[in-house]
Amino acid sequence: MPTLASAPPFWLRDNCPCTDCRDPRNGQKLFQITDLPAGLTAATVREARTADGSPAREVVWAPDGHRSVYPEAWLDAHLPGDRTAPGDGRTEDDKELWDAAGLAGRFPEADWSAYTTDPAVTAAALENVMRFGFVLLRGVPARDRQVLDVARTFGFVRETNYGELFEVRVEADPNNLAFTGARITPHTDNPYRDPVPTLQLLHCLANAARGGDSGLVDGFHAAALLRAEDPEAYEVLTRVPVPFAFADAHTSLVAHRPLIGTDPGGRIREIRFNNRSIGTLRRPAEELDAFYAAYRAFGELLLRGELQVEFRLAPGDCLIFDNTRLLHARTAFAESGDRHLQGAYADIDGLASTLAVLRGKEATA
Ligand code: OGA
Ligand code: ZN
Ligand code: ZN
Repeated sequence: MPTLASAPPFWLRDNCPCTDCRDPRNGQKLFQITDLPAGLTAATVREARTADGSPAREVVWAPDGHRSVYPEAWLDAHLPGDRTAPGDGRTEDDKELWDAAGLAGRFPEADWSAYTTDPAVTAAALENVMRFGFVLLRGVPARDRQVLDVARTFGFVRETNYGELFEVRVEADPNNLAFTGARITPHTDNPYRDPVPTLQLLHCLANAARGGDSGLVDGFHAAALLRAEDPEAYEVLTRVPVPFAFADAHTSLVAHRPLIGTDPGGRIREIRFNNRSIGTLRRPAEELDAFYAAYRAFGELLLRGELQVEFRLAPGDCLIFDNTRLLHARTAFAESGDRHLQGAYADIDGLASTLAVLRGKEATA
């Protein structure tokens, strides 16, 4: 049991669970940090019990005499010490990084009817999105707009300039190369949006064309490889903001972000990579040289065959993936063939929330 002496007073008091400090109906804090008296100290500390009889410590505070009772279990889990705090679930530290061989025999997939009827299957599928960056749902009805119902199983649809959903099929006057039969190399979608859609869904309605196979690359794994193999290039890509842009008759979007986004601790947290929509960088010339060398190095790495898991979507397959981590790709296909996907975007915090609620129910069941 770590001692309370190591606990900074303002930190400990800010976490007081009493009903004067927190609304018991919702756990929300009722005070402002500025309401706490200056020079706060724990005047006395003694062993106590919570209202339900669990072991606890009672602190009486000076100068205001406030009384706080902290369950031992909470103190064990939260007192500051040498342990590193758990991450936010979104960085490389909280993921299982993979290459194609690493997914052999454990391709993340689930059957739609089990997914929609068995909460354990739902939770396992959503867990796969958090852990591996994707799940492939099989046997989803190959119906128009069904992709929206798939998104609604775990969250809310994120509408964009492409609409509530977007059609991926050959168009006569495409505003995006996705809507042609061209090969599309590994990329993340909508890097020109801020915030970027964090989840993407692709639901296959028809895939009878020659070609049009799918590929996924773990961008966190690729970025970690770049860091190991070419630390300078990695550093440049975490630092240089890149103007991503998209424009058509109704839209003019731009977002300035590095290709590799890191959290305040320097951990990989967000990949943006899309050769179609990188705009014109305006930086000092020597920085541009360094950026282009690094961009090429990362681009080459992303095309390594061993990094890409390849498969073919069949009608009824719906891929759900983390658009801040995975890059997706497709091979070229014959434009005369019948290939039709419907795509939609959603938010990964909503998926994580649905998963946490499901796990909470499992724990109390
Ligand atoms: C897209 C895309 C992949 C495909 O529309 O963003 O990458 O398989 N499509 O057509
Ligand atoms: Zn209190
Ligand atoms: Zn795409």
